[in-house]
Amino acid sequence: MSQNLCIGIAGLGTVGSGLVEMLQKNHDEILRRTGREITIKAVAVHNIAKKRDLPEGVLLTDNALSLADDPDIQVVVELMGGTTVARELILRSMENGKSVVTANKALLAEYGREIFALAAEKNVALGYEASSAGAIPVIQTLRDSLAGNHITSVMGILNGTSNYILSEMNSHGFDFPTALKEAQDLGLAEADPSLDIDGQDAAHKLVLLIRLAWGVHYDFSKLAVAGIRGLNPLDIQFAREFGYRIKLIGQARDENGKIEAGVFPALVHHSMLLARVNGAYNAVRIEGNAVGSLFLHGLGAGSRPTASAVLGDLLALARRDSVNSAEANTGFINTLPDAKILPSDEAISPWYVRATVRDTYGVLRDIATVFAEEGISFAQIIQKAATRDDCVSLTGEDCVSLVLMTHETTGNAIKAATHRLHENGTLLIPATCFRILASSGNEAEGA
Ligand code: HSE
Repeated sequence: MSQNLCIGIAGLGTVGSGLVEMLQKNHDEILRRTGREITIKAVAVHNIAKKRDLPEGVLLTDNALSLADDPDIQVVVELMGGTTVARELILRSMENGKSVVTANKALLAEYGREIFALAAEKNVALGYEASSAGAIPVIQTLRDSLAGNHITSVMGILNGTSNYILSEMNSHGFDFPTALKEAQDLGLAEADPSLDIDGQDAAHKLVLLIRLAWGVHYDFSKLAVAGIRGLNPLDIQFAREFGYRIKLIGQARDENGKIEAGVFPALVHHSMLLARVNGAYNAVRIEGNAVGSLFLHGLGAGSRPTASAVLGDLLALARRDSVNSAEANTGFINTLPDAKILPSDEAISPWYVRATVRDTYGVLRDIATVFAEEGISFAQIIQKAATRDDCVSLTGEDCVSLVLMTHETTGNAIKAATHRLHENGTLLIPATCFRILASSGNEAEGA
């Protein structure tokens, strides 16, 4: 084993700086654990003129691709993000026989098939612990620790920014724009928060977890994705009254060999651990036929927490005799097939429906008729006179909110029923509908 592990880092933003900091701060610990120095030969940055806090002797370049061609560099750490230069850098590094560590969820979700195939062909390692749920070691958990299981479901809170916004709306009664602004002021949400609040970031992570759980490629463009943009505080209040919290959930389940997956805001019962994940935290709940259920909780973003995951990958490589080995990148030995997909709208779950209706006779009868015709059974119904003002401001008419909780049904049935009721004028505006997260029945997570 050579004495040093020589790395090049592309990107010195939040995660890259955290990595450089922790490599220095934990130097002695790392050496004791691996018996090798991890040395940074070069760092690629966008703006080479900006002053950087780097160890002596580290080369600074604005040409990220030069890391791929440097014969001294054994591992390229890609922390620049994006799917253009980052993709080129990773592919070229692998072509040149280098192993790669990356935090790039978008790249691995959208171009995973190409990247994993090249890693296998070139027999190089691809470390991506930091790409899903930040500091939480979910990649290693699914790929290694739970490798002896048949996984039945993976669900989680995979976006800290959205979870922060929802937590603030829930605990302080903020409306969506106020909570978003607060997240932006704290530096949690980007100036353009779309990736986080529209569910795409969580969707990227979910596709990676599906690959690890079931050894299949789930085409990212086929994943059903809904975010939390514009969520009405009324729904947070109603959910609370029924004993639920609204969370942005990424969920995938094995339904008789088909994968049912999606990212969506859902009602989560307060007794479930997921309901209690607050602020910018992430959590992942995994069910397997040997392990039962497992719950992982931690910071999903941030400089040191994400660097912790990158370091985990680097140390794993440093411990190997040869860093150039594709062993278990995906966790499966063969080329991965495409996932057989059960469309999310065909999956069964209970639903929450908020209908905005005139407060007059016959309305409930009309709703009950259409729901019955679509095969949907009610579990609970409440009408709130106190929502009259909110409704009037939305519709300009005298109206109230009627909240219906259903027994198990499909998204297709809910869409059909609410569409018909809007078309025939019973609903004054389109209904707001959320899935209610089904617990597995053995959900002894405490009250
Ligand atoms: N922006 C993400 C989040 C972290 O808020 O969780 C990086 O994926």
